[in-house]
Order: sequence, then C-alpha cells, then structure tokens
Amino acid sequence: MLPTTPFDQTTAYKKLKAHHKTIAKKHLRELFAEDPDRFRKFNIRLGDLILDYSKNRISTRTRTYLVQLAEECGLAGAIEQMFSGAKINATENRAVLHVALRNRSNVPIEVDGKDVMPDVNEVLEKMKVFSGKVRSGEWKGYSGKAITDLVNIGIGGSDLGPVMVTEALKAYGKKGLNLHFVSNVDGTHIAETLKVLDPETTLFMVASKTFTTQETMANAHSARAWFLEKAGDEAHVKKHFVAISTNREQVEKFGIDPENMFGFWDWVGGRYSLWSAIGLSIACGIGFQNFEQLLAGAHDMDNHFRTTKFERNMPVILALLGIWYNNFFGAESHAILPYDQYLHRFAAYFQQGDMESNGKYVGRDGQPVSYQTGPIIWGEPGTNGQHAFYQLIHQGTKLIPCDFIAPAISHNPLGEHHKMLLSNFFAQTEALMNGKTREEVEAELAGKSREEIDALAPFKVFEGNRPTNSILVKKITPRVLGSLIALYEHKIFVQGVLWNIFSFDQWGVELGKQLANKIYPELQNDWPISEHDSSTNGLINQYKRWR
Ligand code: F6P
Repeated sequence: MLPTTPFDQTTAYKKLKAHHKTIAKKHLRELFAEDPDRFRKFNIRLGDLILDYSKNRISTRTRTYLVQLAEECGLAGAIEQMFSGAKINATENRAVLHVALRNRSNVPIEVDGKDVMPDVNEVLEKMKVFSGKVRSGEWKGYSGKAITDLVNIGIGGSDLGPVMVTEALKAYGKKGLNLHFVSNVDGTHIAETLKVLDPETTLFMVASKTFTTQETMANAHSARAWFLEKAGDEAHVKKHFVAISTNREQVEKFGIDPENMFGFWDWVGGRYSLWSAIGLSIACGIGFQNFEQLLAGAHDMDNHFRTTKFERNMPVILALLGIWYNNFFGAESHAILPYDQYLHRFAAYFQQGDMESNGKYVGRDGQPVSYQTGPIIWGEPGTNGQHAFYQLIHQGTKLIPCDFIAPAISHNPLGEHHKMLLSNFFAQTEALMNGKTREEVEAELAGKSREEIDALAPFKVFEGNRPTNSILVKKITPRVLGSLIALYEHKIFVQGVLWNIFSFDQWGVELGKQLANKIYPELQNDWPISEHDSSTNGLINQYKRWR
C-alpha cells in the first residue's frame, strides 16, 4: 500500500509555505546575480541528456525543503513498491509494472509470486519475429504481395504512444513501409485513411487493452468490412489483421487468429503501454533493434530514478518543481515545448500521460484533497509556438512554467536551420527569465520624443521571472527518446505519490462512456427525446431534425 501522508500537513510543506513568501519576491535576475554558479548547482546529466533547472524560482534551500517534502510523503518506499510489483493501483487491485517491460537486466520481478519476465521476453521475441517478417517482406498478404502499409487501430494509450514515438523516430523508418494510425470514432478518420490503401498490401493492428473500446471496435469492424469487400474470403483475414490485447476471448470473437495475437497484462496501464506489444507498430516502423534501444533508454532512466538521491534525481526534481509552482505559486498549467519537429506529438502524448494520471480530486484515503493536483498539460513544437501563444507566456497574467526540449544534433542538418532553431531555444528561456526592463526599453526607443517613449514603453517592458527547465539532448535517438519518455512517466508518478492520489486508474473517463452508451440507442429512430435535461434533449432533437 502506498502511504497516505496528508501532503499539506507535513512539516516540509509548512516550511515551503513560509519560504515561498521570501522567494516569490525575488527575481530570477537577482538569483543569477547573487550566485554565478547556478548552472553547476542546478543541472543533472544522465548519458546524452542534460536537465538544466537553474532558471527556476528556487534556491538551494527550496530544493532542500522540496526534497524533505518527498521524504516525508514516503516517496522512497513508494518507488520501491512500484519496482517490486506491489499492487499500488489499489482501486483496480493491480501492480504497475511498465518498468518490467523494459527491464533489460532481466532481474526477476514478481506479481502474485510469479516472475513476469519470462512472459515479457516471450512477447518481445514474438514481436521481433513478426516485425522482422513484415519489414523483410516475408509476411505476405492474401495475394502474395508484401505489406506496404500498416494501420494501427487504437485510441488513448493504444494510439498516442505509437503515434508519438513513430513520429519522433521517423528518421529510423523504412522506405516503402508506411504507418497509419486511426483512433477517432468519427468515420472520417478511417475513411480518409483507407482511401489511399490497397487491401492486398495493408496490415491492420487492432490495439486495445480491453478489446471492448467502442471507438476501436467500430474502426476495426469498418476496416474488416473494407478489406473483405475486395479480398472476399474470411480466410484471408488472418494475413491482414493482428490483435494487441489482454483479452484473448474478445480477440477470438472478433475473428482474429490467436496465433496473431500479441498479449500483455493487466499490470500495464494503457497510457504506459507503448513499451509492451502496443509498441508493435513502433517495432515494425523503426525495426526491432531500435525498439530494443528505446526500451534500453527507458531502463537507463528507471535505474537512475530508482537509485539516485533525490537531489540529483531527474524525475524527482522535475516533479518537485512542478509541485512548487502548482501548489505554492498557484500555476494552473504546464507547457512542454520541444524544439524538434519530430517531437510534434510529445506534448499531446503527455497530455494523456499526465492528465489522465493525476487529474484526480480524491486522495488515497478516499477523501477529497484540499489542494491542487495535476496541472493542465499543453504545448506545441518551437518555433511554431513562438508565433502563436508565447505572447501570453511572456506578457500574460498567468504564470506558466515551461519545459524546453532540444537536440544538439539534428537528423536533418540542412544549411543553417538547426543553428537558427537552437538560437531560438536558448533565447526563449533567457528572455523568459530576464524579461526587459524599463531602462532597456527606453534605451531602445532613444531618438523618439519623451511623450512617445512614455506612451510606448509600458507595452514593451517584459517582467521576466518566468521559470523554465531546459532539457538538452545530444540527438533524438531511440535510446535518448526512451529515457526522455521514462523521465516524464516517473515525474507523474512522483507527483501522484506526493499529492496522495492514485495515478494509475482513470475512473473519470467512465461517466461519459456510460452516457454515450445510453444515448446511442436513442439515436436509432426519429422520435423526439424528453428523458434528459432540456439542453441535452434540445440538442438531440435538433440533430434528429437535421440529419
Ligand atoms: O478511456 C480511457 C482509456 O481507458 C485509456 O486509459 C486507454 O488508454 C484507452 O481508453 C484505450 O483503452 P483500450 O486500450 O482498452 O482500448
């Protein structure tokens, strides 16, 4: 069982409250002027990743108190519980073992007295063989042609991870093997995808932990109907449909050969599943060796997280900084801003990862919490974001802590592009920190009349003092990406432990699903509806008149 320490009743929390009053008055410019050694004091390096967190509104004392908070909340024990297979997802009575999926050391990890590693390795081996056959052209469609297009059908954790990773590692893709992802139940998604495909050379991967998710099942049935329209014979399905699921019974019911099923287990959370068979599209797209590198990178971060003192522990520090702004500065959101076009789905991926994990108001003691929990996660790749929403980050009324992520080496070293990109990456965090003073603005406006200067200057002043983390990596390789993803996963875990919430269930998504299932039959006829509130009735009835 995870501890149920009341986060805001701890000694460290009280110390931080008092300390916040002093530090909130300080400008980052002052903190840097007072201590030229901040970069050395506030950076952590792991392999080809460096986290610079010196541009945060903290001192070494802040860090000490934050670390004390983690200690008081029982973080060390919680980490051990997760890694050793304890059922810390208590509301679903499940272990939380995405770390076992990338446990490259193969040290046994037990759930209910059984080592899970042999099963993990068996599925990995099956993925290796399958992805090898697809990539080499040995896997043939019903008419004897090799596969040219893979379509992953899944949603949420069964979609976002594979999409994000295959986009991030597109440079490792294989020419002639195209990946497609269909998630939305809106028929447009599958219809537009199928338009460019040939059933003879297309292979569908139906990815669903439960194999009951409405969106995925609807898309899978439509894909099957489209396929059979040309292929004709049901016997051909097995060459063109594979399933990735924990639910063998439903897979068989759908008509997929169990031979073509890649299993995983209830101790893998949907939004933590890209390391499992859910990553089959990744393995096919970038090759199994690269998929193994991705796992190895995550394992590097797992080892760092499990064994490093909190002061030097990247996920712990990121989590504590998030708590500092969320619970002491009142920040409501957190931006993830990758300066790498390949990482264009990274923020969207962690929108689910973070918000589905820590969007909870009930504590582990079953009582509503009396403080803020998970932030709103958002972001877009730089420099696009700069020309869209950065204005608000620089001069708006809200405090938005940001993570800036960039690779030193580009996969596409085209002319001066990468230097230009990185000059923006470095410039933005500097600008957010320093801002621009009235004096600097006046100097810039020199030559204009006093009246003009007084009229314009207030709008050109930037307060600065906006906190940022910079994560600079050598290159976005599979190994580095694995570490980066695991970094954020563990950050989320740490925050959930401290906020005293259960990060690995997602009951909040159920109500909408239940109501949709109730409304769906009501849409089968044209009779007016009166069972709901006036708004819902009005909307449904208008829809019925218009359709
Ligand atoms: O609705 C939320 C959710 O349960 C996610 O947690 C999960 O990733 C997604 O639905 C898809 O679920 P499944 O893999 O079972 O289709």
